[in-house]
Amino acid sequence: MAKLLQQHSNAAGWAPPSVQKRWLLTLLIMLSISTLIALLMKSAFDSCDPPHPRNFHVDASNKQDKDFPKSIRTAPSPLSFMKSKLVLLCFIFPGGPLLLMELAFLLRSVGTEVFWITMQKPTETDEVVYSLEQKMSVRGVQVLSAKGQEAIDTAFKADLIVLNTAVAGKWLDVVLKENVPRVLPKVLWWIHEMRGHYFKLDYVKHLPLVGGAMIDSHVTAEYWKNRTQERLRIKMPETYVVHLGNSKELMDVAEDSVAKRVLREHIRESLGVRDEDILFAIINSVSRGKGQDLFLRSFYESLQLIQVQKLKVPSMHAVIVGSDMSAQTKFETELRNYVMQKNIQDRVHFINKTLTVAPYLAAIDVLVQNSQARGECFGRITIEAMAFQLPVLGTAAGGTTEIVVNGTTGLLHSVGKEGVTPLAKNIVKLATHVERRLTMGKRGYERVREMFLEHHMAHRIASVLKEVLRKSKSHPHS
Ligand SMILES: *[C@@H]1O[C@H](CO)[C@@H](O)[C@H](O)[C@H]1NC(C)=O
Ligand SMILES: *[C@@H]1O[C@H](CO)[C@@H](O)[C@H](O)[C@H]1NC(C)=O
Ligand SMILES: *[C@@H]1O[C@H](CO)[C@@H](O)[C@H](O)[C@H]1NC(C)=O
Repeated sequence: MAKLLQQHSNAAGWAPPSVQKRWLLTLLIMLSISTLIALLMKSAFDSCDPPHPRNFHVDASNKQDKDFPKSIRTAPSPLSFMKSKLVLLCFIFPGGPLLLMELAFLLRSVGTEVFWITMQKPTETDEVVYSLEQKMSVRGVQVLSAKGQEAIDTAFKADLIVLNTAVAGKWLDVVLKENVPRVLPKVLWWIHEMRGHYFKLDYVKHLPLVGGAMIDSHVTAEYWKNRTQERLRIKMPETYVVHLGNSKELMDVAEDSVAKRVLREHIRESLGVRDEDILFAIINSVSRGKGQDLFLRSFYESLQLIQVQKLKVPSMHAVIVGSDMSAQTKFETELRNYVMQKNIQDRVHFINKTLTVAPYLAAIDVLVQNSQARGECFGRITIEAMAFQLPVLGTAAGGTTEIVVNGTTGLLHSVGKEGVTPLAKNIVKLATHVERRLTMGKRGYERVREMFLEHHMAHRIASVLKEVLRKSKSHPHS
């Protein structure tokens, strides 16, 4: 991890000349770990299919939010009933440990006894996992070996077992063998992915009998219900939709105008763009599923529109954060070739996959969320951008449709080639209508304050945990 951080600070040349605030650096480092993990998670599970009509879900997400007083930060945690309960968290490498870690810390903060196991192949030893586990030990999370007797005993004793990601189901069989049915009623399965290959009985056969499933968006929940039924002929357990929230660390930077200004100036300088230039960015691992290719086409089209219509706008730039040339994918090459072919090298900036998104969020003017096919399962970068008062130009797919209010906090366009021209027009709209752009950003920020903060997520998770605990207690096997 130290090495990775070092790389990043070199890449961005991070050295605030005047503001030598140590806390700022600390925040950035904290954010950077989160972001790396988020990127890992996103690249591992990145594809979702078209949305289905909403016809099922127990909604643990939005309803309570409106009644939430702002003073909640000082109010007792909604999770306080978890005090001295025993919870086992199971993470499968490399599937998105960040959220599970945040849950671990939320539970620790109310005095829950938290155990953690990482499932990985013996060949995989990973710096990120190691540093995560270190970080958790410091916060009083007890890290166990996945294969030991202690993990089994803890599973039996636990009040609740949280399986993170669809593939974690395999853990049950490998570790608990014939004892699996004993623990199922107290298993809460937290699912963040929706790609075809997860719909294998091998992974999910225990799903119908677990205490509950927790899924990041309605669309994803729909998709799981549909696929398990149609493909596997199994029934989903009680399913709870839990929208995610922004961490306090991210909000602290987003709400600090000095930090934001420093980061903005720094990044803009490193990109060679001026203060008045307009930056549109995708922040996601570079892959066809995330739609950077289509975004570049829209961007080029928007430049042409501006030229043809002789519109007066500051110079526009496209920023693609999440590049990884070392992976040498055809797709990365394709993007570069396109930029050369259209001769827009001075307008398009590729940034390596980075640990730290906050500086980029501080530096840009508009977030483009161009995930294709089923879209994002949730798309945490979307709420992170909104926290920075950025409007979002997003595909009308997946979790994005549950986050972005079309016309108010951003503008939606269709996935696929049909979306290229609408996105180009939306880019022009936001470039030419400064007031509208700024207002959309503010509305997005208000929406985040209303429903996408850590305490909202904690509240939503609390009601799910309560339910699952209640039902598992009344279950004969537990
Ligand atoms: C599942 O989705 C398919 C098409 O995507 C649809 O035809 C079917 O009716 C859906 N099934 C359920 C149970 O919703
Ligand atoms: C970005 O990554 C490439 C390949 O991994 C590397 O060669 C290059 O130096 C990196 N750029 C920066 C600015 O760190
Ligand atoms: C978004 O709103 C605009 C009008 O503001 C409308 O033209 C467009 O069709 C809407 N898109 C979606 C996907 O709802």
